[in-house]
Amino acid sequence: MKVEIVLLLVFFFNTFVVRGRSSSIIKQEAELRRVSTGGEDIATVGEESLNASKLAVRAGTGTFSVKSYGAKSDGKTDDSKSFQLAWQAACGASGSPKLLIPPGTYLVGPIEFTGPCSNAYSGNLIATTNLAQYGKGDYWILFSWVNGLNFIGAGGTFDGQGASAWPKNQCSTRRDCVRLPVNLLFVAVTNSVVRNLRSVNSKSFHIGMVDCTNIQMFGLNIIAPGNSPNTDGIHIERSSWVTIEQSLIATGDDCVSIGQGSTHVTISGVTCGPGHGISIGSLGRYLNEGDVRSITVKFCNFTGTMNGVRIKTWQNSPSPSVVNNITFDNNFMNNVGNPIIIDQTYCPSQQCAHMAPSRVKLQDITFRNIRGTTSTPEAVKLICSSALPCQNVILQDINLQYSAGSKSECQNVYPRYAGIQIPPPCGQ
Ligand SMILES: *[C@@H]1O[C@H](CO)[C@@H](O)[C@H](O)[C@H]1NC(C)=O
Ligand SMILES: *[C@@H]1O[C@H](CO)[C@@H](O)[C@H](O)[C@H]1NC(C)=O
Ligand SMILES: *[C@@H]1O[C@H](CO)[C@@H](O)[C@H](O)[C@H]1NC(C)=O
Repeated sequence: MKVEIVLLLVFFFNTFVVRGRSSSIIKQEAELRRVSTGGEDIATVGEESLNASKLAVRAGTGTFSVKSYGAKSDGKTDDSKSFQLAWQAACGASGSPKLLIPPGTYLVGPIEFTGPCSNAYSGNLIATTNLAQYGKGDYWILFSWVNGLNFIGAGGTFDGQGASAWPKNQCSTRRDCVRLPVNLLFVAVTNSVVRNLRSVNSKSFHIGMVDCTNIQMFGLNIIAPGNSPNTDGIHIERSSWVTIEQSLIATGDDCVSIGQGSTHVTISGVTCGPGHGISIGSLGRYLNEGDVRSITVKFCNFTGTMNGVRIKTWQNSPSPSVVNNITFDNNFMNNVGNPIIIDQTYCPSQQCAHMAPSRVKLQDITFRNIRGTTSTPEAVKLICSSALPCQNVILQDINLQYSAGSKSECQNVYPRYAGIQIPPPCGQ
């Protein structure tokens, strides 16, 4: 029988302070509200110094308050250790343990919430825990190797205070750039729910997911300025069976980006803007990237974004890969630059050594019921690889208006059309 625990994190504090690796102190304001705890007893524990024998007693209660583990919550003392201890205790407990962060000001981070939780493991996961190769320096808060996490933001804010870091971001011009920390990174997390959390001003991505399976995220609120570099809302990589629903994302890069090796990702009811839109890619940059399959983006609303729905792949791809069974359905564009775009000649800032065509093969791509207005004439832009023309691209019921008339452009693709077509079809 599969033994599983749910780790419930309830965040309801007023101010949360984090410290970056550089040990510069980053302060964040947060407006958080108390949440219903489903009637469960949440211990209100006073400030106490760490005492292992007391911890042992508390371990039975099912609620693990960071304050019981020594968190000072004075905004000055580094409370990371207490967070870690509370997590370890919760992780090792049976039943439905709950890690609690009571109201207060906490200086923490970067911090790892790492499994496997001793009795939470279903055994299906590959239990290598060498995270050194991943983590160090490129996340603020990391959840890794956890099965059955129930992460409730309860309106809590994770503020990366990225403004001072953004000028140091060189990733848009340098291939070998140093990645700035992701606000919340999920690595090998499975069968989990993340809801109602708010992430603002991350240094790079707000939420990253790598090697995750069966994750539902909803009610997220992700905010950074429209000109902040690489602050993607949610980046998904090598992950499967992921759904992102009913969320608001306003940021400086892709609202959601779906990277290599991802399958069965559904994005629904996301309001995006400002930002670069919802993208599959970029793909084809590195050696041996995995295929991307069975992705749906539906009922999303884009306002003032650079792109709407996009697939982008690099030139000079070192290995071949495939993108197939992609559906963009019922998406609304409000003053969007390129509402529908496939770009297989992606190579920002002349970072490609030479201009060999992309080796990412695109097939079975449907754009259906995409309507609204554009901010440029280029409403439909389908630029496929000259080495591997796109196959089975369908445009159905497209109505994208531009004051002076919208246009379409096709290269290395012969789409099939159905229903209304504004702009008029290309590639005929
Ligand atoms: C921890 O608590 C126990 C029981 O309350 C007490 O006997 C012990 O001295 C305490 N240890 C420390 C290090 O405070
Ligand atoms: C295509 O993707 C959808 C989800 O977007 C999935 O339901 C369907 O089974 C996939 N079809 C194939 C043939 O893989
Ligand atoms: C899209 O979002 C904009 C801005 O929030 C809103 O005014 C508009 O009604 C929304 N449109 C749809 C179709 O949901």
